[in-house]
Amino acid sequence: MSDSEFRATKWWQTGVIYQVYPRSFQDTGGDGVGDLRGIAARLDYFVALGVHAIWISPFYPSPMADFGYDVADYCGVDPLFGTMDDFDALLQAAHEKGLRVILDFVPNHTSDQHPWFVESRSSRTNAKRDWYLWRDAAPAGDDWVPAAQRMPNNWMSNFGGPAWTWDEATQQFYLHSFLKQQPDLNWRNPAVQKAIFEAMCFWLDKGVDGFRMDVLWLLVKDQYFRNNPRNPEYQPWMQDIAQTLPQFTADQPETHLIVAEMRTLMDTYSDRVLIGEIYLPLPDLVKYYGNKVDAADETPVLNGAHLPFNFHLIQTEWKAEAIARIIREYEAALPPGAWPNYVLGNHDQSRLASRIGAKQARAAAMLLLMLRGTPTLYYGDELGMTDVPIAPDQVQDPAEKNEPGKGHGRDPERSPMLWVDAPNAGFTTPDAKPWLPLMSGWETANAASQSKDKKSMFTLYRSLLHLRRVHDTLHAGAIADVRAEGDVLRFRRVGLEDGSSVDFQVLLNLGNDVATVQCAKGTVILTTLLDGVGAGVDGDIVVEAGEGILIALD
Ligand code: NOJ
Repeated sequence: MSDSEFRATKWWQTGVIYQVYPRSFQDTGGDGVGDLRGIAARLDYFVALGVHAIWISPFYPSPMADFGYDVADYCGVDPLFGTMDDFDALLQAAHEKGLRVILDFVPNHTSDQHPWFVESRSSRTNAKRDWYLWRDAAPAGDDWVPAAQRMPNNWMSNFGGPAWTWDEATQQFYLHSFLKQQPDLNWRNPAVQKAIFEAMCFWLDKGVDGFRMDVLWLLVKDQYFRNNPRNPEYQPWMQDIAQTLPQFTADQPETHLIVAEMRTLMDTYSDRVLIGEIYLPLPDLVKYYGNKVDAADETPVLNGAHLPFNFHLIQTEWKAEAIARIIREYEAALPPGAWPNYVLGNHDQSRLASRIGAKQARAAAMLLLMLRGTPTLYYGDELGMTDVPIAPDQVQDPAEKNEPGKGHGRDPERSPMLWVDAPNAGFTTPDAKPWLPLMSGWETANAASQSKDKKSMFTLYRSLLHLRRVHDTLHAGAIADVRAEGDVLRFRRVGLEDGSSVDFQVLLNLGNDVATVQCAKGTVILTTLLDGVGAGVDGDIVVEAGEGILIALD
């Protein structure tokens, strides 16, 4: 690898992102819901863990129908989370500690309480009517069906039922890809684009380091509002949205033009990152890096998101062969100059340790942090937190309330962060009631206890993050020889050709049986069991089930 290929120089390339779900991170107000002051109080935790940036899920003014993903003011702070002064203090303190701050931004929809929507629904002739997607009822057929039941087309909401809600006052339907309290903005309207870009500037001017853009691939809808095709694989136990295939509601070509506009805006500021939440197959996902061909010299320019989130490690079967294939296909699909990234958990997905088990979660930690590309960690995964069972009367998530029992409920992965062995695990004041129940076993699983335990999950994450930070090869080097050998997933990280940086071999046993594989000469730098460090390797090496081994090659 030549010097020029060793090109990861931006903080969002070499660094590691940590997602904070603010409701669940740290409460200082005693209402059982986390807040911005709580995040500020925990900045040293991020530093001690060794991450470089925090992404904070929405804290904007909101009726909280979808816990903040229903924004009523893009340029404010909900009193539940604090004040703008609290945010400013948090940003400043984070920057003083060398931490970057990424905000969650929700451009696809607002709250139905947002003044834009209140205006838009006030009359058919309101200037903001076209800021949202309003449609007439479908024509009446022979059977008399009230207009309110004649949906404009078959589009479905991601949270159950049709994506259309009837507005009695103005006798039209409006579109909502999620809750009816989350009307979709009309991104074909230049005034909407301008208003959202201004809101982005509000935060960029304050100095935030970037955005994670919510459901970026859903922004634009078919201009003819054509019916989506039926999904031949739909089964009644599936969510309503699975009845059709999202041909006309997702990944529309015009979306790339909007993303390019966002990128152009971000590029007028220095060193900011644009991240997109995008659930798509790899060939479609990588298009969100953008690829404008410069007319002058025909050089392709990446004019899309810096990091279209790659969720494929979450969606792929936990098998060495399947994961090796995903990594290879992803690397091969990346346009020249595009920087990879990987995600293993977030506030919408069952916890990693619940999906694959505690043992494999250790191997997963090594995988995520040793791959080439920017890793994003979900709060609490560094403690091995698992899904928390939620009794029917404790359900908070609207997705679960709308489609009970269909497995979409997201409360289990949003339980409070576990800080100390004290009442409420230090998440909130001792006599408060956390908004969701604590994970059982918090007395020992908490961060303070784990940080003293040399073999804990926390210690493993901290060690991996430290190694990733200090070794150029690990945060900026190439990846090679990605393959499965039985249950063992193996790959090498490759540094500079001049030998000034170390090369590494990663071995991960994703199976249930001990395995023996071959390894070139080197020294064990870390194992996920946190033992055996310093041992020499040359030839056969034994990898326990669920174990990961990092070897510095001679
Ligand atoms: C994606 C977010 O991650 C999820 O939590 C939210 O419910 C939907 N977008 C709607 O905003």
